Amino acid sequence: ADIYFLFSGLIGRSWAMVFAAGGFKVKLYDIAQQQLTSALENIRKQMKELEESGFLKGALSAEQQLALISICTDLNAAVEGATFIQECTPENLELKKKIFGQLDLIVDDNVILSSSTSCLLPSKLFTGLKHVKQCIVSHPVNPPYFVPLVEIVPHPETDPSTTERTYALMKKIGQSPVNLNREIEGFILNRLQYAVISEAWRLVGEGVISPTDLDLVMSDGLGMRYAFIGPLETMHLNANGISNYCERYREGMRLVLNTFGPVPEFSGEIEQKISQAMSEKIPVVPKVLDARRKWRDECLTGLAKLKKQMKSD
Ligand code: NAI
Repeated sequence: ADIYFLFSGLIGRSWAMVFAAGGFKVKLYDIAQQQLTSALENIRKQMKELEESGFLKGALSAEQQLALISICTDLNAAVEGATFIQECTPENLELKKKIFGQLDLIVDDNVILSSSTSCLLPSKLFTGLKHVKQCIVSHPVNPPYFVPLVEIVPHPETDPSTTERTYALMKKIGQSPVNLNREIEGFILNRLQYAVISEAWRLVGEGVISPTDLDLVMSDGLGMRYAFIGPLETMHLNANGISNYCERYREGMRLVLNTFGPVPEFSGEIEQKISQAMSEKIPVVPKVLDARRKWRDECLTGLAKLKKQMKSD
């Protein structure tokens, strides 16, 4: 079977679980043995819990999936035989460039070098590498085990076959890949997210609505349908097709959009106000934050199940 190789932080662990669920052999590499041992323990615990609650992905049992994952602290040994390498080191350009520089020296002409980066552009990460044709960004969404989207972003010199193979692999392990035809700051997900965040920030800043009510507009309003259909299909369905929607709402939308303010500073008084409101609801204490994150992941698991049930195509 093919072998994949990753790094063992938060995202690396999740990727490992997703690949193992897809039936692939996974090698986890990290700088410290301790990091790897705790990653394995953590993965075992998560898989067992998922199995018990009936949410384990894939056709194999937790034990069978665990047997597919091995660990390694030697980069050369980790790379040997790999066909796909998913880098998951901290979000630091210099560090990532160093890692890809090292990999560039030891990999063959066939392996795909893929980065999990959330916001570093492929042209920053891969330019000048001998194997640039084999390099690509595969940006996951946290937690990838429950949120399947992967943004695939090529370097201008990435070979189309690299993009195609990465896309096919993501499909095979049950993720939901999308292709960007060229790189752009923030990729797509964060551009959409920042558009929403900035308008939320302005509205609260201008005192139009409270921070908690603002969040409700999303969680009990817009977000309800966005879990199933995107903004463009929403337009299509909210009238008799896109053209009809534009005909009806074009002017209204432009009128509203022209009242949007400038890019917020995300600091000062408004930051204080939002921080206070959020902390009242969810105190910034590790135990409380972790409990809330656990609850969020349970919600996402339930949603994933519902989405599967509702799948019509
Ligand atoms: P993390 O800090 O949990 O994990 C980083 C891992 O890299 C650790 O296992 C650490 O031991 C290892 N590491 C540190 N220095 C290293 C070195 N010199 N060589 C090899 N390994 C080294 O970070 P996290 O959150 O897993 O993020 C990893 C990547 O995934 C980042 O690029 C991040 O932007 C991206 N990402 C993160 C998301 C998130 O929500 N956490 C979502 C999507 C992407």
